[in-house]
Amino acid sequence: MEVRTLIERKRNGGRLSAGEWRVLMNQYAAGEVPDYQMAALAMAIFFVGLDRDEIGQLTNAMLESGARLHLDHLAVGRVDKHSTGGVGDKVSLVLAPLVAACGVAVPMMSGRGLGHTGGTLDKLEAIPGFRTGISIQEAEALLVRHQCAMLGQTSEIAPADRKLYALRDATATVESIPLIAASIMSKKLAEGLTGLVLDVKRGSGAFLPELDRGLELAKTMIALGADHGCPVVALLTAMDRPLGRACGNAVEVEEAIMALRGTGPADLMAVTYALGADMLVLGGAARDRDDARTRMEEAIASGRAARLFQAIIEAQGGNPAVVDDPGLLPQAPARALYRAPRSGTIAQVEPRAVGRGITALGGGRTRVEDTVHPAVGFVITARPGDIVREGDPLATILAQDQNGLDAGRAALDLAIRLADDVDDADPPLPLISHRVTGAGVECWDDGR
Ligand code: URA
Repeated sequence: MEVRTLIERKRNGGRLSAGEWRVLMNQYAAGEVPDYQMAALAMAIFFVGLDRDEIGQLTNAMLESGARLHLDHLAVGRVDKHSTGGVGDKVSLVLAPLVAACGVAVPMMSGRGLGHTGGTLDKLEAIPGFRTGISIQEAEALLVRHQCAMLGQTSEIAPADRKLYALRDATATVESIPLIAASIMSKKLAEGLTGLVLDVKRGSGAFLPELDRGLELAKTMIALGADHGCPVVALLTAMDRPLGRACGNAVEVEEAIMALRGTGPADLMAVTYALGADMLVLGGAARDRDDARTRMEEAIASGRAARLFQAIIEAQGGNPAVVDDPGLLPQAPARALYRAPRSGTIAQVEPRAVGRGITALGGGRTRVEDTVHPAVGFVITARPGDIVREGDPLATILAQDQNGLDAGRAALDLAIRLADDVDDADPPLPLISHRVTGAGVECWDDGR
């Protein structure tokens, strides 16, 4: 196949056929198409787009470039959740054991932090010994035993997407609705799911900050799920500030454990319960969202969800004692309070700047091959709208040394914006603003 001709056609606004997408992505996964040609095609797609049929064909081509999980023999529904990426977003760590403890199998396939966003795999690997690189066979066995497995996208699953996503990250072609939709859905559909819940982030820290683009992404992924008989529900949630207080790897695991033990921060719990409710309904383990909420609260109050997390950690080689004693997680050697430089109102806690700050501390990646320091990060207690006085503590910086503390302070100087007056601060986005299903878009009612 003449790849140059395909790039040229797409660049000029033309379309590729289903067969061309299939051969192209198979050859790319096999290393027969060079990265420079795929990068040029990704940039052409970024500008020209793909029509609805092409998005489906690209999704199928990436899905079929690898293997799938076989979970049909499980007696319960199989539902996963995927977030489009954010800062402080440790929802997967809470949700996977919580939903599994309520009777739905959760093959939780996650990614690594790239750019300013954190990744669930890096967080899990902050637990001493935890293995995320498990094979499809091991994941299937874990799902039979614990109803949950927490895995990364190995070279077996949608390998064409795996390569293309790393390439897009390096070539500034992530922020494309067709490419994001095909990327997410190709690997999710490989999990053999009976349902999928999406957390589509909006706001300055999201890959697609604008509401209309988030809604379009959600609708595109819902349509791709429908092509494969997999019902998809999407919630649009705020990423104009970090979720919860902890931002970093080990420190987010600690916050997730506190959530499973019933003392998680309110915003983290609200997003977790909202996504979990749809997972339980889609998985057939709850009559409706209210019933689902009651079941999740009971799983936390009884300790079942925390115990299941412990069992999963043990089964995947990690130290299960961290659930009872989070002090066993890696601890930062240097810590300092970050205090308000002056009195005022917290106008913004900007997630991109926080995410870049974590990277500056050594807790994130600028290249895929970078190693991360699990213990570094921030605990940010300041929330938009808080009125503070000069010298009040707004955050704790967790670093490896004095240089790290300085870098952390510089990052928070940029991230935490103070206004003189409450009226000078833009109101934060609603934590959850919309719910999107195959039937359409609903505005979120906070009372549910
Ligand atoms: N997450 C993915 O898996 N793929 C994308 O393209 C963006 C976010």
